[in-house]
Amino acid sequence: MGNMCTPVKARIVSTGSYVPERVLTNQDLEKIVDTTDEWIWTRTGMKERRIAAEGEFTSDMGFEAAKRAMEKGNVAPHEIDLILFATLTPDYLFPSTACLLQARLGATNASALDIQAACTGYLYGISIAKAFIESGTYRTVLVVASEKLSSIVNYSDRSTCVLFGDGAGACIIRSEGKGFHIRDVTLGADGEQSSLIMLPAGGSRSPASQETVAEGMHYLKMDGKETYKHAVRRMEAASRETLLKAGIPEGDVDWIIPHQANIRIIEGLAKRFDMPMEKIYITLHKYGNTSASSLAIALDEFQAEKTLNPEKAILLVAFGAGVAWGASTLIYGD
Ligand code: ACO
Repeated sequence: MGNMCTPVKARIVSTGSYVPERVLTNQDLEKIVDTTDEWIWTRTGMKERRIAAEGEFTSDMGFEAAKRAMEKGNVAPHEIDLILFATLTPDYLFPSTACLLQARLGATNASALDIQAACTGYLYGISIAKAFIESGTYRTVLVVASEKLSSIVNYSDRSTCVLFGDGAGACIIRSEGKGFHIRDVTLGADGEQSSLIMLPAGGSRSPASQETVAEGMHYLKMDGKETYKHAVRRMEAASRETLLKAGIPEGDVDWIIPHQANIRIIEGLAKRFDMPMEKIYITLHKYGNTSASSLAIALDEFQAEKTLNPEKAILLVAFGAGVAWGASTLIYGD
């Protein structure tokens, strides 16, 4: 009877990440566009980012991250029931990058789909995985986030090219095993703000043509200032909501792992939660903004580096194109 009533808990049982070898520093960017190390550092907190090698694609980086998460979790390819692949830089518009990864892994029992929620894609993935695990539909879900943002960044536009980098992260979500209990995921979106960050051409509205290429419409466009305002407000609200739903008082948050878009956005968030910056996990100085991969890479490096406190909560929070946002409350060892 006791067992029958015990709710199934979805847990992140292992994580993995991969970043390409090539480093693009602020000094390198000084040679490409009219910028300075000082501007980039003080306005964003970024020092360097990674750039995929020629012939290295989103699916390749996702594969490396997935392999590492599977090895750590001792998960064989045939055990995976579902692959969720968060990316805004898929290898192709279709077939999905999730299907490419499924073949590469030999995960023949897995269904597979891509998630397009930009920087919040990893949290959307975790949320979908949690629902499938808790409903008993699946036992093992692989969530991957991988981005080759260097493929859509305009390296003659100083307002965007300094911000983004490439990389991938992954996790295995199961009901059995030890790890981070996903106590709650809170998601949101506001499509009224869809023009703030976008890739104007290449979709059905503006298929690629000589004209779209000539006008640079195949590059990422962002209204940084406006995005900034929405980011802080939405991330704060989502964070408070997930903690409330998880039944965790704000004082019980041990660490915040935020999306890595800008150190000033992160400082704004820390201030609103009265958290010292030492308790905010930062990777943006070395990787820049890797969109969906930012949280996935950060969670992997965080768990490898830090001593985890089973009594306290870890808050994940993200915001990006769509606009879409989300936050999640994790408890280690619960
Ligand atoms: N080097 C030197 N000067 C620059 C650079 C640069 N790389 N980029 C812009 N500038 C100049 C601008 O031209 C402007 O000059 P002006 O005053 O003469 O016109 C000045 O610096 C200030 O520019 P702003 O855009 O107002 O700078 P701001 O302080 O807002 O910082 C930034 C820009 C870093 C982009 C910031 O707005 C930001 O972080 N926004 C949020 C980004 C975000 O959260 N994105 C969400 C996720 S992305 C996704 O979903 C894919």
